[in-house]
Amino acid sequence: MSKNTIPFINCTDPYHTLQCYNDFMYVYVNGKIVHAREAFISVFDHGFLYGDGIYETLRVYDGAVFKLAEHLIRLFRSASLIGLSIPLNIDHLKIAIYETLIANALRNAYVRLTVSRGKGSIGLDPDLCPEPTIVIFAQEFKEYPKEFYKNGIHLIISATRRNYKKAVSPQIKSLNFLNNILAKMEAKKKNALEAVMLNVHGKLTEGSVSNIFFYKERTLCTPSLECGILDGITRGMIIDLALREGIQVNKGQFTKKDMYSAEEVFITNTTMEVMPVSQVDDQRYIVGNGAKFLRTIYQQEVKAYIAEVKAKGPSLWAENE
Ligand code: PDD
Repeated sequence: MSKNTIPFINCTDPYHTLQCYNDFMYVYVNGKIVHAREAFISVFDHGFLYGDGIYETLRVYDGAVFKLAEHLIRLFRSASLIGLSIPLNIDHLKIAIYETLIANALRNAYVRLTVSRGKGSIGLDPDLCPEPTIVIFAQEFKEYPKEFYKNGIHLIISATRRNYKKAVSPQIKSLNFLNNILAKMEAKKKNALEAVMLNVHGKLTEGSVSNIFFYKERTLCTPSLECGILDGITRGMIIDLALREGIQVNKGQFTKKDMYSAEEVFITNTTMEVMPVSQVDDQRYIVGNGAKFLRTIYQQEVKAYIAEVKAKGPSLWAENE
């Protein structure tokens, strides 16, 4: 079947459904690569029943999985924070990811790696689940619309507060996404692409799927990890790149007023990279040189990374570690 005849499902809304699935993909499920039509997990899986599990989203550029080691290290950190023992080691997971990419003949892709507690009887006790479920799927990467980068996107500050870090820590990249989904629903109602959540103390945290940054008086500001956010891999890179370029960085506690009065705002994540923001609630911003510059040097880093992975030679999953 030619690519054009593949019936893409769920693609009606380019703002909100950029990555689409189809029945002709190959999916990794517990050690086997199967057709999406045959890729099933149990209805008794605690990931489905209780949101008990973790995941990572990765991006593949020209056949190289970007920051693969970092994503897998974070996956293992999330696993250890919920007392989940992943039955594969980092090298096995790397191979499984590349095998999934090869099966789907993808070079520029979105990859989702999910590990749930697995199948078990009803009850919250993780010991009811003898074996975690591991699923990996990969889809062709769909770029965000160019206008988003050119003109910036619209954010809101949601009424939904970010999970309190001593309840469900945002450091765990967990399958429990209702907190983020509720915030996203608020954003969608207001025609915004992303919602920024405050923590229980009224301080800025992060977006539903992104970290936030703003420029104020020539300083790059971003909420600190203590505010209760995910330790974004893109965020970490942007901080390092900014410091390397001599830009002052302030990782701290900020209010929404701090962001309203900023000169520039942008968000980051693995798929968006650096996305400029033109509006937060009623406050407007220019798409300025600060975000553009960081996006450019981020993309240079991506290029250098791909070149490095390729230079490692024939082993497709060779990584610089
Ligand atoms: N989301 N904060 C949250 C709540 C996220 O879900 C993400 C990533 C980030 C950015 O992390 P990173 O730079 O490592 O991608 C911050 C991914 C893209 C997702 O959920 O698919």
